[in-house]
Amino acid sequence: MSEIREQQRLTKDERDRRVLELCEQVSEIERRLIPTGLHVFGRAADAGERADLLRMVASFDRPETGARALPQLIEEGLNVNASAPSHDGARLSEKSLQAREQVEATTREAIRRFLAGGSEAACAWLETTARVPVAESRRVFSLLEKIEEQLRDNRELDAFARALRGEYIEPGPGADIVQNPSILPTGRNTHAVNPYGVPSDLAFARAERLVKLLLERHRTEHGRYPSAMALVLWGLDNIKTQGEGVAQALWLLGVRPLRDGMNRVTDVEAIPLELLGRPRIDVVMTVSGIFRDLFGATMGLLDRAVQCVAALDEPPESNYVRRNIRARMEAEACPFAEAALRVFSNAAGNYGTNVNFMVMDSQWEADDTLADLFVTRKCFAYGRDSEGRALEGREARAALNGALARVEATYQNIDSFEIGITDVDHYFEYLGGVSKAVEKQTDSRPAIYLSDALSRDAKVRSVEETIRLETRTKTLNPKWYEGMLKHGFRGVAEIESHVANTFGWSATADAVDDWVYTEVAETFVLDEQMLERLRELNPHSARSLVARLLEAEGRGFWQAEADMIERLRDIFTGLEDRIEGVA
Ligand code: BEZ
Ligand code: MG
Repeated sequence: MSEIREQQRLTKDERDRRVLELCEQVSEIERRLIPTGLHVFGRAADAGERADLLRMVASFDRPETGARALPQLIEEGLNVNASAPSHDGARLSEKSLQAREQVEATTREAIRRFLAGGSEAACAWLETTARVPVAESRRVFSLLEKIEEQLRDNRELDAFARALRGEYIEPGPGADIVQNPSILPTGRNTHAVNPYGVPSDLAFARAERLVKLLLERHRTEHGRYPSAMALVLWGLDNIKTQGEGVAQALWLLGVRPLRDGMNRVTDVEAIPLELLGRPRIDVVMTVSGIFRDLFGATMGLLDRAVQCVAALDEPPESNYVRRNIRARMEAEACPFAEAALRVFSNAAGNYGTNVNFMVMDSQWEADDTLADLFVTRKCFAYGRDSEGRALEGREARAALNGALARVEATYQNIDSFEIGITDVDHYFEYLGGVSKAVEKQTDSRPAIYLSDALSRDAKVRSVEETIRLETRTKTLNPKWYEGMLKHGFRGVAEIESHVANTFGWSATADAVDDWVYTEVAETFVLDEQMLERLRELNPHSARSLVARLLEAEGRGFWQAEADMIERLRDIFTGLEDRIEGVA
């Protein structure tokens, strides 16, 4: 009732704005590229997957081939503005939303015509329909021709057999097809990047925009810039993006990379505060074991960046790094070298936080246990001591806890089209784990953000928003789960694992809405036909899924109706009996 009254009070403009926001969210879900099944080793992408991938590849500029982003060419040809800011008033937004739909529909149709009739047909159609110059579209389609051919050709089994015979396997770059189509053909020996090339100029340029969005969002929601942020840096992510995560850390600190005579990134210089236009943000970096192994030089660079900023003679309100280091030195009589440690990873030779194992095995009672485990695993400092000696993973628990005590927001860059935060348990073990560790030090949960560099306009989302989006586009999306169920036993395990990873975000960050668990229960367990399918294909995963829902309720992560829990309990007992051969 009160909601209705509130709605009656909305002005027309406000109502239009809300409807447009809703439209935008629905179209975001619709546009998202979702994997519709697992990759089968040796099997090439089918026609539908090829069309989706080609459309995504065509959505970005490809300076290396001179091809421009197809949607941009169409936007220009149609003389519309599909990316106008949505806060400029409802009418403009409505226009830009319509323009975006028109641009997207035209892009889809152009790809369809390319696949059905070839490049020339698609170019001619685009010229008549959207006035895209043929010289421009030809560059796009000649790139797509090559990629389409490579997508049809799968050499994975052949390369695997050659590897088993001890023969030579050609190397190829490690990346995402959309970020770097030269990863094709697959079935090659993946190589990493030169750490001295990181961050690339492109990565540094892209990171500037993302950090602006991130800090603006925090300021809008919390009224100020975060005093410090905890960042998670992964190896594979920084290989794929040539160091976007690293570049984001440098931008937060307000420094730029410097290249030596051999074009290697070996140092940094401070960006003057007048140019930066905001304070320098303190950053605590918890990096994966893989990152530590692959990016030793980069770990040194990040440590140097912190030292460089800490040494700047700037007022505390403009340099949070210096301010936080000084405050800690005074409060705890702690030497500068200790107070300035910001780059942490596992002990040499160790990997992971183990927070995922503890959560999956339900082996914790108090929140502090997860926080302590994260810190125990990740409190090894890298960088240089006051005499310039390399630390190489010296245990520094107090230093990590001290640095985390000033953190107000945590963040991780998401780089991949295929893997999201509920697909694997590593996102919650790292980003969830560090957030829990911050919560323990500060007595309040930090703001938790992720980037989404998957679209042309990179976005920043809160962890709650990201989970809602992934739940709608994957876990609860029939297109996704039916794709999984085609794989039988393994498919059910994938669905169960999504539910378990979602639960991991409740355990570490209290980031999951009740409706997520309710709809998971309704879709997979309380629907008799679906439950029967899961039970037939993989009774063990079906049982684990129901057990996880009951655990979510039991731990207070899900406020569920009592009779729903009753039914879940009965179903659980039935599944157990069946597995044990009682029923
Ligand atoms: C990494 O790329 O560093 C990474 C990948 C998976 C899990 C953890 C770390
Ligand atoms: Mg809740």
